[in-house]
Amino acid sequence: MFCQLRTGRLTTERGINLLNNAFGIDLGTSNIKIYNKAEDAILVEKNMIAIENKKNLFAYGDSAFEMYEKAPANINISYPLSNGVIADIKNMELLIKYFVNDLTKGNIRPADYYIAVPSDITEVEKRAFYDLIKEAGVKAKRIFVVEKAVADGLGMDIDVKNSQGVLVVNVGYDTTEVSILSLGGIVLSRLIKVGGLKFDDAIRAAVRKQFSLIIGGKTAENVKMSLCDLEKEGKGAVVYGRDIVTGLPVERELPTQMIDECLIEHFHTIIDSVKVILERTPPELAADIYRHGIYLTGGASQVNHLAELLHRGTGLNVNVSENPVTSVALGLAKIIKDDNYKSVAYTIEGMSR
Ligand SMILES: Nc1ncnc2c1ncn2[C@@H]1O[C@H](COP(=O)(O)OP(=O)(O)OP(=O)(O)O)[C@@H](O)[C@H]1O
Ligand SMILES: [Mg+2]
Repeated sequence: MFCQLRTGRLTTERGINLLNNAFGIDLGTSNIKIYNKAEDAILVEKNMIAIENKKNLFAYGDSAFEMYEKAPANINISYPLSNGVIADIKNMELLIKYFVNDLTKGNIRPADYYIAVPSDITEVEKRAFYDLIKEAGVKAKRIFVVEKAVADGLGMDIDVKNSQGVLVVNVGYDTTEVSILSLGGIVLSRLIKVGGLKFDDAIRAAVRKQFSLIIGGKTAENVKMSLCDLEKEGKGAVVYGRDIVTGLPVERELPTQMIDECLIEHFHTIIDSVKVILERTPPELAADIYRHGIYLTGGASQVNHLAELLHRGTGLNVNVSENPVTSVALGLAKIIKDDNYKSVAYTIEGMSR
């Protein structure tokens, strides 16, 4: 090993010493994002696993998602995370190991790990993220925890360490996290069970009710993601599904207005929780929040009309993230690369090695 280092084989083209590598992980319910210092790149894959006959790994990541809703009964495809917390530890460990193995081309070496966790969960649930990395068999040298909203702020280029009063709203797949940051820490944070999945479910329910048509989750998600473009082009969303009455597959065109309307209820849940957080915010921080506006991120924050309704509902400016899916991972990357930001990462007491 030592010889290899001297011949330079343990450094990447970018000169990163592979014996000193670090990974930053944002475990999303729908997408796992892993920043790899050695490549200075972020891997985004579906946080999904396909198990055959209850024991054999059949597929993972994007390839497991490809099979989702199409696989035979003996292949069980699932998300190991639920509502932002780890629901299936064994499969989550397996997935982490496979992804890190892919990133290191089959040669996992000791490295530091920075893992982003939601703030509004119990200490036991936070510790579970820590234990996950420790037990995943990825040779973690040191494990640091970072509050997701802090990483989000850094990922959106906010000077979180020196700002007093930053409101971050991350709309993900299962959850929306609304947080107030000040001087690099969390003042208030609330995790609500609304996100992209609820939007997809609302679309499916509305299509079923108004068109007597059953559509799959992926179809609903595609409709949701194309709403903006369709509206601009003045077109409806063409979908394929099963007619409830005849039981036969059919094609239908759905008006975008109908889809927009069925999502409003969930948008209001998000807006209401932002208002609740604002009501509880210490007044001294309110001035900064008013000045900066809301920072909106997370994959599902891109859904049609959410940003504008949030602006209308709160009277605050809304800054829309340039990288909504990867903002947390981009923040972790900053912490890993820049020692100035290391103080926002911490080890869980009694667990440091
Ligand atoms: N252009 C788009 N318009 C609307 N929704 C989108 C768009 N692109 C992605 N999404 C949605 O974003 C969600 C995934 O976002 P993200 O990766 O931030 O979630 P996550 O981090 O996995 O979930 P969580 O934070 O709840 O654990 C999915 O529901 C997806 O449908
Ligand atoms: Mg997320």
